[in-house]
Amino acid sequence: MHLSGSFVAYLVVLIAVGAVILPLQAITRNGFIRGKLRFSLLVIVAAAGYEIASNYYQLHYQLPTDQPSAIGKLLLALAIVNAIAALLFNPFRQEKISDRYPRIVQDAVVVGAFVLVATSVAPDKLWATSAIGGLVLGLALQDTLGNLFAGLAIQVEKPFGVGDWIKAGDYEGRVAEVTWRATKIRAKSGKFVVIPNSLVSKDTVVNYSKPSPIQRMSFSIGLAYDVPPNLVKRVAVETCAAIPSILKEPAPDVLLTQYADSSINYSCRFWIDDFSRSDPIIDEFATLLYYRLKRAHLNIPFPIRDIRITQPVAEDQVEADGSRLAFVEKAGLFRNLEMADKEAIARIMHPVTFAAGETIIRQADAGDSMFFVKNGCVRVVLESNGERHEVTQLTDGDFFGEMALLTGEPRSATVMAVCDVEAYVLSKEPFREVLQQNPAIVEKISETMALRKAMLEQQASQMSTLAIRIQAEEQQNFLVRIQRFFGLG
Ligand code: CMP
Repeated sequence: MHLSGSFVAYLVVLIAVGAVILPLQAITRNGFIRGKLRFSLLVIVAAAGYEIASNYYQLHYQLPTDQPSAIGKLLLALAIVNAIAALLFNPFRQEKISDRYPRIVQDAVVVGAFVLVATSVAPDKLWATSAIGGLVLGLALQDTLGNLFAGLAIQVEKPFGVGDWIKAGDYEGRVAEVTWRATKIRAKSGKFVVIPNSLVSKDTVVNYSKPSPIQRMSFSIGLAYDVPPNLVKRVAVETCAAIPSILKEPAPDVLLTQYADSSINYSCRFWIDDFSRSDPIIDEFATLLYYRLKRAHLNIPFPIRDIRITQPVAEDQVEADGSRLAFVEKAGLFRNLEMADKEAIARIMHPVTFAAGETIIRQADAGDSMFFVKNGCVRVVLESNGERHEVTQLTDGDFFGEMALLTGEPRSATVMAVCDVEAYVLSKEPFREVLQQNPAIVEKISETMALRKAMLEQQASQMSTLAIRIQAEEQQNFLVRIQRFFGLG
């Protein structure tokens, strides 16, 4: 069998290209490159097979054979262009597709380069087939081509990339992939939504991740007409400050938006940097706002058409006379008091509610109130340099916050609500009068305080980093210190 020089040269090039691609394909860590190189190898094998078969056929029938065929050359060109694009655009040692040149762009480059080579290798054949082929293909693939060009436009213009949170039309989610045909997003509900690229490019696209992941959220709320707007704004802004996921900068703000039928409406606006958590963050804000408004005695009103006649003052009074007194009667601390004194205490106690997880008292703060747990459970925690140790838990009927209230010292520990807690709060001035009448209460409280202090010290000695000041002097009789602080005879 006689083989021409150029045919042998062609075969040598084919084998050389295969010999380069084969080891690269074996050593790359990138599965995408591996797949592309495997495709090139397949094309090389097909080209070699085709050429050898056609050469054999031509020899057999004694046809003139000297050159490798145009198809063989085109296949070789395809294998080379495809391999070079894969190696050029993607990281060789990482399992990922280039962010800058996604799959769709790489494919477009390969097709473009291949067409360029093809026009120079076999221009006559290409023109002959392309006119009819283009027409048929164009008609058949109208939609597909629309999506394809839209996909290319998206890649070039880059209104969003993989990993961004977007809203396209009615769909909101994180972009998982942009292919030739469609943009795939994963919605917050977990649904995988495939939107044809032509729709994406026609619709308005909102990108929540770029140019910056910081987004403003807003939450609307209505409060009664007798509530001063500045007070509402203060409570809402403080609520934002208590939620770590809400950014301090840009600062949150509250706008009065409407004097509505039954309420003054406000829009609470705050910034977050993790859009994927926007719903739970809004929920956290709305929930905490409820408790804080309730504590500030700011009620969210019923619609004006509600025919219930609510009289908060009267209700408060009923509570004072009923359940507050019942609570005081049961509380161990007040057991031995006269009925008149119990009623006096019931009158100066105010109900407060805390959300589960909320910090009621913060260690080292100044404090001029103490609390009685009516319902629920709190944790007493000793903190130092980020180290936290639970000292104890207190529940229905227990009291806390007495140390700072009665001695004027900073809070000795942090107290947090374990679950939603209903409590009564007593503040210094009204309590002073009750204490003056009933020195026995002071004695009883000072006993409890000494015990608690001892527990705190024991806990402190186990904490390596404890920096708070606990001195032997503080063991001294609390009784004397309380009397001194309150100016009790
Ligand atoms: P105060 O120091 O005002 O604020 C923190 C409160 O935690 C403190 O008052 C006590 O009421 C409470 N506390 C501190 N140590 C203990 C303890 N060992 N047992 C129960 N309560 C405590």
